[in-house]
Amino acid sequence: MIPTTDPETVALKLREGGLVAFPTETVYGLGADAENERAIARLFSVKGRPRNHPLIVHLAAASELSRWAVRIPEAAYRLAEACWPGPLTLLLEKSSRVPDATTGGLASVGLRVPAHPLALELLRRFGGGIAAPSANRFGRVSPTRAEHVLSDLGDDIDALLDGGECAVGVESTIVDLTRPAPVVLRPGGISIERIESLLGMSVERVLPADARAPGLLASHYAPDARVEVVAPSALAQRAAELTSQGERVAVLLSHHDDRSALDLLKEVTLLDLGPSDESAAQRLYGALRLADAEHHTVVLASPPAAAGLGEALADRLRKAAGPR
Ligand code: TXA
Ligand code: MG
Repeated sequence: MIPTTDPETVALKLREGGLVAFPTETVYGLGADAENERAIARLFSVKGRPRNHPLIVHLAAASELSRWAVRIPEAAYRLAEACWPGPLTLLLEKSSRVPDATTGGLASVGLRVPAHPLALELLRRFGGGIAAPSANRFGRVSPTRAEHVLSDLGDDIDALLDGGECAVGVESTIVDLTRPAPVVLRPGGISIERIESLLGMSVERVLPADARAPGLLASHYAPDARVEVVAPSALAQRAAELTSQGERVAVLLSHHDDRSALDLLKEVTLLDLGPSDESAAQRLYGALRLADAEHHTVVLASPPAAAGLGEALADRLRKAAGPR
């Protein structure tokens, strides 16, 4: 598999019913024609994902909403207008165009317009909706560079569109608009505060009633190394303790952590997530992958403040650390 930067060759594969990986601003997606049930079946099997876990359908523009959803509430237009293209997925009642296979049998469909120039060009050339989960095997760390996709799925896909490193680095925020009041099923690249201010109301964070959004699955986004989340003040001590037990420890260093105590621990590798929550989100998955590549056995991190992007970061770390 040789990655390409030409959206047309990738659009052609989609039209032929192929599986393609493409960049978005959040993470790379593993895409198939959302209306082609055979392609969707192959997507589920390559991803290793249970068939009742619904896929997000990616669109070229908000103006396509009404082709894919019905009984669209005003809140959807308001959020779409303000946030698309961008890291927001809206759950709406699906139109008859959407095959049941794409939504795992659900009556709702997740829709989003990604903010990556190559993704948008691919969508425009393809003309339809692209159903795409993150381009990793089920339960594992999402890819934020073409090389990640190549090493995970290179043998199983028909094309890989290389758009460099993803700018946001964590997945889209999912807002369910099919209930009496909007709820957030997954914190992500757009802060919940922003959604609340656009809607002029507070929005609940709800874990889905069944485990079809991996929010309820204890382990997700997980590297091979065990992940532990500890308070910033306990990081250095825990790192020293694990090292003395023979573990190969990597610490994900956040902007709120105290670096000086960790610098003294010569056997501990520091993976710097940079000066802000934004940089931490962008680097998180790459750092988890690097920890595996360097054969670390434990990854330590402290939890970010649960506000803004920190909410998504805290969620991903918690799931990476969840019982396997
Ligand atoms: O940023 C993203 O959202 C990335 C990029 C590629 O767009 N995609 C992504 O897809 O994260 P995936 O499949 O890895 O995660 C989507 C989540 C899943 O937990 C899925 O269960 C949930 O969204 N989901 C999608 N449609 C749904 C629906 N109709 N009802 C409930 N949950 C839904
Ligand atoms: Mg995923």
